[in-house]
Amino acid sequence: MGLRVAVFASGGGSNFQALVERARQYRVVLLVCNRPQAGVLDRAEKLDIPSHILSPRIFGSETSYVDAVLDLLHKENIDLIALAGYLSKVPSRIIGAFQGRILNIHPALLPRFGGKGFYGSRVHKAVLEAKETSSGATVHFVDEEYDTGPILLQKKVPVHADDTSDSLAARVLSVEHQLFPEAIHLIAQGRVRIQNRRVTIIPHTDDH
Ligand code: GAR
Repeated sequence: MGLRVAVFASGGGSNFQALVERARQYRVVLLVCNRPQAGVLDRAEKLDIPSHILSPRIFGSETSYVDAVLDLLHKENIDLIALAGYLSKVPSRIIGAFQGRILNIHPALLPRFGGKGFYGSRVHKAVLEAKETSSGATVHFVDEEYDTGPILLQKKVPVHADDTSDSLAARVLSVEHQLFPEAIHLIAQGRVRIQNRRVTIIPHTDDH
């Protein structure tokens, strides 16, 4: 059956859907969403994945929210958390409980165009304003800061002279949809090591 994955998302959920549909050696067991109107909730219903709307605002305090999230993750025996367009900082108690087991996808080539405030279309607008000729997507482990954790996979895409932030976002998203499942498969195959904040991918052998 492989790894049991919880996806955290706040938006349209195209990465959530790709993670569900492309899963082979892991299984997306549940969705945690922090916005009751998010499009990802409809996708979860169609894909028959249980969703949970959880946020500090709903619980009235950060402490009871974190307690509820941790209860859920432990009850469902979650091995890995995948942040797929999750637009809140993950509380440090959750990061501590899932050390080295939280991945995030970011729509640029980190460490460039990352950090607080760099999310969604803001990232693509900044890339266009900087007149970059390439951008891309990054899957990285999550630490206590925004977008600074060890990088697992990156893939470049070209930026075209006539790109808008929407056209660039679409090109980057199609790469994200392939890169995020690939990253989780590497972990499911036991081929990822982190040492001194550096990631090593162990080459594929017939034993895996
Ligand atoms: C994706 O492009 C993801 O990389 C980005 O939000 C989008 C969510 O799209 N995440 C960030 O910017 C995090 N800093 P989706 O809801 O269709 O998966």
